[in-house]
Amino acid sequence: MTCTILSPLRQQETSGEAKMDRFDTLVESLKDILGPSSGITSDDVDVGDLMHAMEQYASDDREWSPYAMADASRAYTRNLVDEGNGKSNLLILVWSPGKASPIHDHGNAHCVMKILRGTLTETRYDFPDGDKNKPMQVKSTSHHKENAVAYMADELGVHRISNEGSDFAVSLHLYTPPNVAKSGCNIFDLRSGKKSHVPKCGYFSKFGRILKE
Ligand code: SIN
Repeated sequence: MTCTILSPLRQQETSGEAKMDRFDTLVESLKDILGPSSGITSDDVDVGDLMHAMEQYASDDREWSPYAMADASRAYTRNLVDEGNGKSNLLILVWSPGKASPIHDHGNAHCVMKILRGTLTETRYDFPDGDKNKPMQVKSTSHHKENAVAYMADELGVHRISNEGSDFAVSLHLYTPPNVAKSGCNIFDLRSGKKSHVPKCGYFSKFGRILKE
């Protein structure tokens, strides 16, 4: 069954006009930071600025819940919030309890993640050594609590995110450039390190509307 995490209360109508809330302001700020550059690797954009903008936002479920579509039959849902003028993907991911993403790389893009609800566990691994059939080697495990902001990119290895809690958890992910949306990513088998390419990492909803299968 699909549902939003909480009942949407998002934009209060004042004399018929929608009011920007703090989550809308964050989305605009991220877009402004990416600005006219070609992505966060360019000289005039700093990943620290993106992380700072996310840190300044105090999670309020009344603001982001219209995007947070939960589906307990999936490990997690990917819900598109904004495309940052074609320079990024801003997604809200809703994690079912006890479930995890596959171990994956980031398609040579940067990922900034903020926890909006609950606690998520991030397990990082070394990139597997060529074609050797060998279990993935854990580099680190971190527990990210509500409002924490983390950064991930291919030079730091590969990772998986899991929700070890007993309720849905929610996170906000900024990917820039939007390489994974365009060309997919690689996933890795925990036991053998075997890599498989996933050509399309699709969305469950876009701009608050569930997509047809
Ligand atoms: C995804 O964007 O599908 C994966 C999120 C993550 O585990 O980092």
